[in-house]
This record gives sequence, C-alpha cells and structure tokens, in this order.
Amino acid sequence: MKKIRKGLWGLLCAALVCPVAGQAQRVDVERDLAYCHRQVARALDGLKENGGWDYTQMPRNILAEDLQQGRTEWNCRPATPEEWCGGFWPGILWYDYEYSGEAYVGRQARNYTASLGYLADRDPYDHDLGFLVYCSFGNGMRIDPSAAYRDIIVGTAGQLARLFNPRVGTILSWPREVEKQGWPHNTIMDNMMNLEMLFWASRNGGSQDLYDIAVRHAETTMEHHFREDGSCYHVAVYDTITGGFIKGVTHQGYSDRSMWARGQSWAIYGYTMVYRETRDPRFLAFAQKVTDIYLKRLPERSDDWVPLWDFDDPSPSAPKDASAACVVASALLELSGYVSPEKGTQYREAAEQMLASLGKNYQSGDRCVSFLLHSTGHHPAGSEIDASIVYADYYYYEALLRLRRLQQGRPVLGIY
Ligand code: GLY
Repeated sequence: MKKIRKGLWGLLCAALVCPVAGQAQRVDVERDLAYCHRQVARALDGLKENGGWDYTQMPRNILAEDLQQGRTEWNCRPATPEEWCGGFWPGILWYDYEYSGEAYVGRQARNYTASLGYLADRDPYDHDLGFLVYCSFGNGMRIDPSAAYRDIIVGTAGQLARLFNPRVGTILSWPREVEKQGWPHNTIMDNMMNLEMLFWASRNGGSQDLYDIAVRHAETTMEHHFREDGSCYHVAVYDTITGGFIKGVTHQGYSDRSMWARGQSWAIYGYTMVYRETRDPRFLAFAQKVTDIYLKRLPERSDDWVPLWDFDDPSPSAPKDASAACVVASALLELSGYVSPEKGTQYREAAEQMLASLGKNYQSGDRCVSFLLHSTGHHPAGSEIDASIVYADYYYYEALLRLRRLQQGRPVLGIY
C-alpha cells in the first residue's frame, strides 16, 4: 500500500511540475555515456590535428556560426586566470577516464589539469578559482590522488579566501568591477559553486578558516541574494563600511527583477552542496526553496524541461540554456537523496526528464564534437547564444554518472 501511495505521489508530482505532463521520457544512461565517450575521442583527435597538443589551450565553445560555416571543433582559450572555464575540459576528461578507464584519456586529463596548477601561487584574479581548480584537480584527486594535487587545491583555496570580506561576510566576486561599476563589494550567485573547494581544502590539510568562510558566505548570500519567492539576483552589491546589502542587480540576466536560468541553477547546486558539507538543516530547506521556484516556473517557460536562458525574457524567440538544465539535473540527483521520499521522487524524476530531453533533442551528434547544443553564455553581451559551451558538457557528464550511480543503488555525494 505504501509503495502504491508513493508511486501515485510520484505521478502527481511529475504531472504538477512536468512541462509536457503525461509524456514522461526515459533516459538511456548507458547510451548517453557511450555517446559522451565517443565525442571526447573525436574532440581529442581534433585538438591533436589542429596544431598538435597544446595543453594550455582549453576548449570553450562551438558557436552557431561555426556550425553554419562547417566548423565542428572546439574554439579554445588559454589557461589564464581571466578565462573562467579552463577547468571544465580537464574535468570532462577525468569523468571520461572514470567512465572508460582508458589510459590515454587519463594521460590527457593529467596533462590538461597540470596547466592550471600555477593558480595556487598566484594572487586571485577573481572567485572562479573553484571552477578552475576544483573541476580539474578536484576530480583528479578523487580518481588519481596525489600529495601534489592536494597541495594545489589547498593552496588555491587559500588564494580564494583572500577575497573574503569579513565585514560583509562574502567573497568578493569581481575585483575588476568595483571601480568600473561603482560596486564597493559585489558577490555573484555563481560564487556559491566555488565554496566546494574551500570545504574540501579545509578537510584535507587547509585551515578551519576555509570552512568558516564558506559557511558565512552561504549564510550571507541566503539572507540577501534572494527574493521572497526563492529566485535570485545575479549580483548582490554590499557596503564595505557598514557591511550592509545595498542592492540586487543583474549582469548576465534579462533584468534586475528576472530569474536568470543559470544563476538559479548555481543556487540550486550551491545550496545542495553546502548542505552536504555542513549537514545544517537551514541549508537543506533553502536548497529546496530555490529548487521549487525553478520547477514551479519551468512549465511556463519551457516545453521540454530545458529553460529559456532567462525565465522572464518575453521574446518569443528567446534562446534556451541547456547548461542550466545540466547543472540543475546534476544537483537534483544529489538533493533527491537528502529530502523526504516524496520530494526525493519528485526531484529525481524531474532530473531524469531533463536528462531525457537533453539526450533526445539537444545532443550535437555528428554536427560537432561537443556533447550538447543550445546553451546561452552571456545574452546581454550577445556572446555565446545558442552555442555549445564546455560547462554544459561538464555538468551533463557529471549528471549522467550520478544517475548511473543511483541506478546501481549507490549514493551520490561529492563531485560526481
Ligand atoms: N559567469 C558564469 C556564468 O556564465 O554562469
């Protein structure tokens, strides 16, 4: 009876949140993982042929105009601190090594990862150090641990912590925008993702301060960075003298009042991860709140579980953002293990629908070497619109590996 009630509840939840209620799709995890592995092999071949191995050049995007002109390989950017996406390609290679066990892929993962190690000894350029070093060395540490990798993660966490302002209670996200925008201290929602490296470092030889900074950042962000309904601003601006919140604005979203899809995805993933690291029920309740507004609004702005780039862009031709769906799917697979059975079923089913839709309608296939099409990077700047973007692929691979783990009856904890 209990089982039947649970099943009915799951169906009801799916019907309530499903953009196309009643048309539940199945995700074929093994097929999709094999596809990702094939695309990685194609991408590696292309990187080798287009100029030989240069491990300081990191795949970043394949644009719609590239496809129109028959270009199918990744556009790369150098592994500099200004290029925030440099850690995702090494991370994809680690996931692919984990999946395939191929020594060649493992070697390439190590080679690309090594290009980012210098960040542990550099003044912090901005908050993206976690994306850069935890997606690369963090995965490397999990799969092929070494003291050298641990030291780089702990060292980089120390650099990131230097951006923390104790009066405000958050890490400064963009030092370069302080003067340019007249924002005394700014914190962006994306910064939540970088706390994972602080938690890890604190547990692995770094100081207790790293943990305390991460918790304080999450608390302050929870207090100021969200509207009553659980949707977030992209940027929170704070006063460095009083420490008080000045205003919430957007940078990459449609407007100061809108729900930018990827910003909300960072919040969902971020608070799920902070709950895992702290086991503080305030963060679990908050992770659900920021998830529930996303799932509640999804049907309005999506016919297929993949949101528009911003939930409030009224344009009929507003592009989608597959990357937000990948981040949310991955987060929900973890969150589903922390909540009540009813909520857990709802979150897992939603994540599976997202992955099924991505697998059916968003894969690049023969068109290019990325996994997915149709992400949006920086719409207001007109950059990376309806494109393949490397972080969509990173979280897609992560989500598929997480789903496979769950299907095998193993819990999802940590970066996979
Ligand atoms: N600024 C990071 C992002 O585009 O999500």
